[in-house]
Amino acid sequence: MTIWQNLGLRTKINIILFLVLIVFLGISLAWQYRQQRAILFAEAVEKARIITVEATRTREYLSKQLKGARIDLDRDRYGLIPVVVANRIGRIVAEDLDYTIRHTSNRFRNPANTPDAYEQAALRRLAEDPGLDPIAEFSTLDGTPVFRYLQAAYVDESCLECHGDPQQAPRFLRDIYPPEQDASYHYRVGDMIGAVSVVIPTGQIEKRLAAGFRSTLLTTSVFFAALVACLGLLIRKTVLAPLGTLAAAIGAIRKTGHFAGRLPVSGQDEIGELVRGFNAMGEELGAKTLQLEESERRFRLLTETARDAIVAFLPTGQIFLFNRQAEKLFGYTQDELLGEPFDRLFVPDADSGGAALTARIETAAPRWFDELHLLTGRRRDGTPVRLEMTMTVVDTGELPFYTATLRAAPPGE
Ligand code: HEC
Repeated sequence: MTIWQNLGLRTKINIILFLVLIVFLGISLAWQYRQQRAILFAEAVEKARIITVEATRTREYLSKQLKGARIDLDRDRYGLIPVVVANRIGRIVAEDLDYTIRHTSNRFRNPANTPDAYEQAALRRLAEDPGLDPIAEFSTLDGTPVFRYLQAAYVDESCLECHGDPQQAPRFLRDIYPPEQDASYHYRVGDMIGAVSVVIPTGQIEKRLAAGFRSTLLTTSVFFAALVACLGLLIRKTVLAPLGTLAAAIGAIRKTGHFAGRLPVSGQDEIGELVRGFNAMGEELGAKTLQLEESERRFRLLTETARDAIVAFLPTGQIFLFNRQAEKLFGYTQDELLGEPFDRLFVPDADSGGAALTARIETAAPRWFDELHLLTGRRRDGTPVRLEMTMTVVDTGELPFYTATLRAAPPGE
């Protein structure tokens, strides 16, 4: 905390601005990264959905065409079975593009359609909670990042021919997939039979995300840095510079006790208000100082022209006034005695029985102040001098002080 307090205002502001910059940059980047990821995710979902719809419609269309044309399927026409067509086209297309699409099932008929570990789990989730359909998420496949999409397939009337009661199934099918071994019979309408599974490698997506992130980082940093720089300049110009001149002016006043000039007022804002207030204060102070100097001068004249020596001192004994007559009487100059103890001007033992004069004043009865006292003073050169003294207490309310009026005692006393 003390380190912080010892820092200059400019450094503090710079540190705060820098921290603000970092925090805002972090928040803004995190937010933008999330946004971009969400957009790319939505894009991937849309892509997968289109592929899936196309595959499903192809299957349905083919199914209708076969029925309409009364083409009976047999072992030689295995490649025309709609699901087979959809899967094979998917495989062919996958050679050209980077995505794959296929039908799969946990009760698969063709081992080529065996679900992988991810698909097995996803199929179970879909079977348990149909509300999840379709499942779309980022995942990994053999170590590479991928986007996965699974849409459930449900059994309708048209499927029962080959997936319902095996007795109803075409002969060739029963030959290839004997009912005792095949798990893909005995479905009923509405059952979930499997899913269309789409895999899109996200290397491309990740690259776009990274590129987007880099450019965002750059633009956002530049933007915030410019913002903070402008803010810093503004603060420097409107706050720090005027405060600096103000501090310099105050420093000058403390050093010289005078303030001649006026500071330039920059505007109507708080700083302008401060500078205006300072100027007004300076003027007032100047006027007051002048008055004070004037009254001090008059006071000095008064004491200087007095015929008696006048010495004024505080209750601590410190002398703060020593007029010209006193200088003549004791042989000291005023400068030599300012701040020195009053007792120094006297030979203590001679009249007071040992006690210093100031100590005696403290305990003196009020009457003591009305009396004329005969004392032995001590000059600068050490010679004694007989003196007459009267003492007054000046009680201004704040700080009382004493004034001693002294003159050499007439000879013979
Ligand atoms: C003409 C017979 C036939 C009809 C009708 C049929 N299927 Fe199939 N189905 C098959 C055959 C044969 C396979 C094995 C495909 C392969 O070899 O890739 C299969 C495989 C599947 C698979 C892939 C998993 C597995 O078991 O290998 C799904 C999913 C599927 N069918 C769903 C359906 C749905 C849904 C319908 C109705 C809309 C349907 N099928 C109608 C014969 C049929």
